[in-house]
Amino acid sequence: MLKGKNILLGISGGIAAYKAAGLTRLLVKQGTSVKVIMTEKAKEFITPLTMATLSKNPILVDFYNPENGDWNSHVDLGLWADALVIAPATANTMGKMANAIADNLLVTTYLSARCPVFIAPTMDLDMYKHPANEKNMKTLEEYGNIMIEPNSGELASGLVGKGRMAEPEEIVDALNKYFSKNLSLSGKKVLITAGPTHEAIDPVRFIGNHSSGKMGFALADEIANRGANVTLITGPVNINCNNSAVNRINTISAEQMFNECIKHSDYDIAIMSAAVADYTPETIAQKKVKKNDNELEIKLKRTKDIAAELGKTKNSNQILIGFALETDNETENAVKKIEKKNLDFIVLNSLNDKGAGFKTDTNKITIITRNGHNIPFELKSKQKVACDIADYIEKITNK
Ligand code: CTP
Repeated sequence: MLKGKNILLGISGGIAAYKAAGLTRLLVKQGTSVKVIMTEKAKEFITPLTMATLSKNPILVDFYNPENGDWNSHVDLGLWADALVIAPATANTMGKMANAIADNLLVTTYLSARCPVFIAPTMDLDMYKHPANEKNMKTLEEYGNIMIEPNSGELASGLVGKGRMAEPEEIVDALNKYFSKNLSLSGKKVLITAGPTHEAIDPVRFIGNHSSGKMGFALADEIANRGANVTLITGPVNINCNNSAVNRINTISAEQMFNECIKHSDYDIAIMSAAVADYTPETIAQKKVKKNDNELEIKLKRTKDIAAELGKTKNSNQILIGFALETDNETENAVKKIEKKNLDFIVLNSLNDKGAGFKTDTNKITIITRNGHNIPFELKSKQKVACDIADYIEKITNK
């Protein structure tokens, strides 16, 4: 959800500043760009070097860099950010924010930011409950800022009560929740197959294909980032999926992939991008097949066609999308597959196009619709191809 977002993290001077390190790591892990503004006092609780190393950006404290006079424009920073997160927010900083006391870069940037602002207060319980602080927090909420409430527990003072800054995970959750609202595919259940299947011959050998799974994983990531609930059923691949909105299910054979897909057939949208084996050995040798001087014959039987099965049971609210990788008569073959498998559209890639198909990081696709309409796309990265496919899905689901 947060991937690609620009997050401006404001740290003010409280003991909870140490948690800003964990928060920055989590944000970077989610694929965000993080810039950090610290107040003078914050530097006494956590070093700028720590924060610069974790955020991979220089730390901003002053209005200008005292060494070279470079201007740190609060206006530009405010425009750059998709979200400003102030964690920890002390009573002092919140007081300044509520009253427009712009005597440091953090508060000045806050006042010029147009993005949503998240505030994670931290302080001692009596300070937290003081009417002056309560009034400031209420004012900040009335201005549309999002408060991430502190937790109760043992405080740095030794007292027990409300005032512990929310944990980094809770802050990231609040950001995710905010950005997942109003997303185009929010609430949709999407089933995606990816990668090859391995059909065992004996305990050490299999029949497989060159599919890397990159296209299916890029689709899972893109579609999850648009708010969908994605189940990714993958064959054996060497890729990680770091998107927490994707439920990854590992399978090996066509039969396992089929069974998992049937279990998840209550989808709104299914995208069959896996290169599923059409044939599998009739029997799997229990022990390693030893060589001898004769030819070896392996009898193969047909696997079940997942896309065709889902096409048979599909209802009118479900969208089923296939992939076709062809070497000749590309359009004709792809159109036949739409009919045969009852697909809503098919994504065609031709092995004749340089940079398209297996193992590459790029792909060149044509979307072919049921009524034979061809929509060709340029050669581009699989991430961008995933965006094109997701855009097309959005178009037909929001009709
Ligand atoms: N497919 C599937 N299950 C199978 C075979 C294919 O779900 N057992 C899906 C693929 O994921 C793809 C579409 O069907 O979305 C077309 O796959 P493809 O291999 O091109 O088609 P086949 O019907 O197997 O035809 P052929 O291999 O003869 O071209």
